[in-house]
Amino acid sequence: MGVSAHTPVVCLTLSVVTIALFAYVLCVCMSDNKPTVTRITALELELNLGGDSLKRARRNLRTVADEQRYPFLSERKLKRSQASRSAPREELCQLAPEERFDCARDRSVSRSECEARGCCYVPLRDNLSNGPPWCFYPPSYPGYKMGPLSPSPRGQAATLTRPTPSYLPRDISTLRLEVMEELEGRLHITLKDPAHPRYEVPLSVAQPMKSPDGQETLYSIEIHPDPFGFIVRRKSNGRVLMNTTVAPLLFADQYLQLSTSLPSSLLSGLGEHYTPITLDLNWTSLTLWNQDMAPHSDANLYGSHPFYLVQEGEGQAHGVFLLNSNAMEVVLQPTPALTWVSIGGVLDLYVFLGPDPQSVVQQYHQVIGYPMMPPYWSLGFHLCRWGYPTTNATRAVAQRMHDAHFPLDVQWNDLDYADKRRVFTFDPQRFGDLPEMVKHFHQEGMKYVLILDPGISSSSPPGSYRPFDEGLRRGVFIRNTTGQPLIGKVWPGPTAFPDFTNPETQRWWQENIQDFHSKVPVDGLWIDMNEPASFVQGSLEGCPDTALESPPYVPGMIGGHLNSGTLCMSSQQNISSHYNLHNLYGLTEASATYSALLKVRGSRPFILSRSSFPGLGRYSAHWTGDVRSDWEQLRYSVPAVLLFGLYGVPLVGADVCGFEGDTSEELCVRWMQLGAFYPFMRNHNDRSNKPQEPYVFGERAQDAMRSALTLRYSLLPLLYTLFHQSHSSARTVARALFLEFPSDPNCQTVDRQFLWGRSLLISPVLEQGSVELAAYLPPGTWYSLHDGQPFHSKGQYLLLPAPLDTINVHLRGGHIIPQQEPALTTPASRTNPFLLTVALSTGGWARGELFWDDGDSLDTFERGDYSFLMFIAGESMLVSQPLKTNGALDGLVLGGVRVFGVPSPPLEVWVNSERLEDFSYRSDTQVLTIANLALPMAESFTMRWRL
Ligand code: NOJ
Repeated sequence: MGVSAHTPVVCLTLSVVTIALFAYVLCVCMSDNKPTVTRITALELELNLGGDSLKRARRNLRTVADEQRYPFLSERKLKRSQASRSAPREELCQLAPEERFDCARDRSVSRSECEARGCCYVPLRDNLSNGPPWCFYPPSYPGYKMGPLSPSPRGQAATLTRPTPSYLPRDISTLRLEVMEELEGRLHITLKDPAHPRYEVPLSVAQPMKSPDGQETLYSIEIHPDPFGFIVRRKSNGRVLMNTTVAPLLFADQYLQLSTSLPSSLLSGLGEHYTPITLDLNWTSLTLWNQDMAPHSDANLYGSHPFYLVQEGEGQAHGVFLLNSNAMEVVLQPTPALTWVSIGGVLDLYVFLGPDPQSVVQQYHQVIGYPMMPPYWSLGFHLCRWGYPTTNATRAVAQRMHDAHFPLDVQWNDLDYADKRRVFTFDPQRFGDLPEMVKHFHQEGMKYVLILDPGISSSSPPGSYRPFDEGLRRGVFIRNTTGQPLIGKVWPGPTAFPDFTNPETQRWWQENIQDFHSKVPVDGLWIDMNEPASFVQGSLEGCPDTALESPPYVPGMIGGHLNSGTLCMSSQQNISSHYNLHNLYGLTEASATYSALLKVRGSRPFILSRSSFPGLGRYSAHWTGDVRSDWEQLRYSVPAVLLFGLYGVPLVGADVCGFEGDTSEELCVRWMQLGAFYPFMRNHNDRSNKPQEPYVFGERAQDAMRSALTLRYSLLPLLYTLFHQSHSSARTVARALFLEFPSDPNCQTVDRQFLWGRSLLISPVLEQGSVELAAYLPPGTWYSLHDGQPFHSKGQYLLLPAPLDTINVHLRGGHIIPQQEPALTTPASRTNPFLLTVALSTGGWARGELFWDDGDSLDTFERGDYSFLMFIAGESMLVSQPLKTNGALDGLVLGGVRVFGVPSPPLEVWVNSERLEDFSYRSDTQVLTIANLALPMAESFTMRWRL
């Protein structure tokens, strides 16, 4: 079979893009004197697939090119390294399509290549780009063989050996398995190369306080020695949670693969992608590789979270975390099953047994670290845009917000402030009085945040830009293979990239922040472009031709190459190559920035990071990047926010009203309403778009936005208390319904509504033109937060009116929430009277709590420097009981109480021993309102109403 014989047929069937790819492949092939049969067959296979995806074409293209580049991939060597097996017996290949596990994920193969791997080759009629594989493993495909298990310092260990090589280059033929039963609900399994230590993610995991010795674990593990695999079961019901015997384990230098069955198709996590809350298991492939990529479907985005949660049914759930930071692909198939593929590091796997979904999240956060406690002001409203050209323009924005009575806590500037877009400088003409502006904001009770990109301009004349000169002198930048700082290109032009894994870089970073802060007293930092993003591939000088730049297999990703839109993979950082550390760049920058801000400001740091990895939430907030101003993006922002809660980054939100493209008045109103319930609320806009600050819209829209903002501000004591719970016990803030109602099948996939904590149900309008919506109310009593109207739900959808000025919010019976009279800033609202809203359950009781401190000092909870109140209501009584006080509530009063669900008009209302006159009751809604109180918050009180 020759190239020429196939070329004409092939060309006719190709799309323009494919033609380009094909032409390239063809050139590569033809430039070789003797194109091998394998190359042509692989190509032919690709083209026969006709509608096959571009991604697969790319993969094939890389394979051919790489074979030329790397001797270890040459045909001869590949054959030698590969087991020369024969095709399995036909009856072994009679697997249903969904039961097939891909035997050729690393590259496209022909029938003969597939069978030479000892795999089954059974073509299917449908040429789906993402569909069942044609080349798949027969049952019991040979793999590693396990020796005897023996006790290890942390559990049990065994040696795994591979008697015959796999089909991958550079197998690690001996592995060390360690199985650690760490906690009753936490199993930890590692597979490493005992002979040559490999890169491991430098995440310090808190070791379990107590070992499960003598304690019953929630799981049992069964290990199959040959071929190696393991099965994890839930002890209580025997349910198989993981079964890795479904396909062989592969562990080569640049290709690690582990498959497992799943007990259900309700799978969430594996971000960051543009998806609903539960993932589609129909042969979906998800790439985890941090990239500067505006959210859209089928793309790897800014962050990587190799964690999933499975809703098993009957309210139970488990989670799995693969602690690995290399480029990864996770393949989901309808079996249901999942395959992890990573191109480096080790297999370091945690299984969390729950048994309920909220416990899974807590167990996961015990490993990656609990979220930081945000400063109170950061829960207020933030306003930003790229394109406030001067300080005057920025001041005017804040002033207009104030004049129009919109709450605003934090004014931001994007890159506009920086002199020639170089960080740690400000433009002397346009932003010459930046320090004065910031001080002015402070006098108004506001805060100020600006953007800080990691790229350090490298092209200023020597001696004119200290951050670079000093950085160069101190060796803080990521180096290329010749030991020089790698130069990429970002907004200021050529830039070097700080290596935050280097302690010297951390000191240099802190000194720069300190120096800048001494002139411009910023309150927080926005660390953008930290995937890290670069506008050239790899570096201005390209990248060397090494196995790190183009490994044998690259997960499908935008741009097709690991170094697309970022740095060379071979570049060196203090603790390893960028190949290994890329996904950690934002995390390490956030950690360095956190330490710097803490040192410089001496109070709780506020950082907003675009790139993320497990553990980010210990230091930073996150926003979902460059979302478009459209209804679909509004809708998908809900699952995005909820998923980041699972990932331990609860302070999260999307750019309210959208970033890319012009917003519309209606969209912006609905987005402000939804955004009022994002844990982090910032309206941010791109350079060329129409303005979208609340005051630019018509009166009606402004009124709706104002009422959404004041509603948020009135609820900040609740939100702050939820953040305390998240920080102290890893409870989620914005919460998916399935976390709170795990046994209710109707909640399993709900991601158009969500909860704040346990009590507040938010049902936003997400569709253009809608003035009503079908909202699901889980079983129980729900009261409209607006007027106390009760709904007794058996677990049903309700059609709710939602005119433009309304966002539907319901309070769950059995809960009491603390509120406060809103103001235009949080320093002002924090001094206002509190309000309690009591939502009685059908049994006539409710409870709630308030966490309160100075809102800004570090570790108040850890140091015991806070106040904590408990509220309990019985049928005709409300008690407020301070469980702890520290003076933070001194001088603050409770101004009023609303009790929802009071069955009949009270005759009398008493507080302690005083009879109150100022109360009212509405029989239509059954709401008792007690106003004009002035009860000291720090003191206990008992309120009674006599029916
Ligand atoms: C990209 C960020 O995602 C966006 O929010 C920002 O406005 C631009 N960079 C400019 O700094």
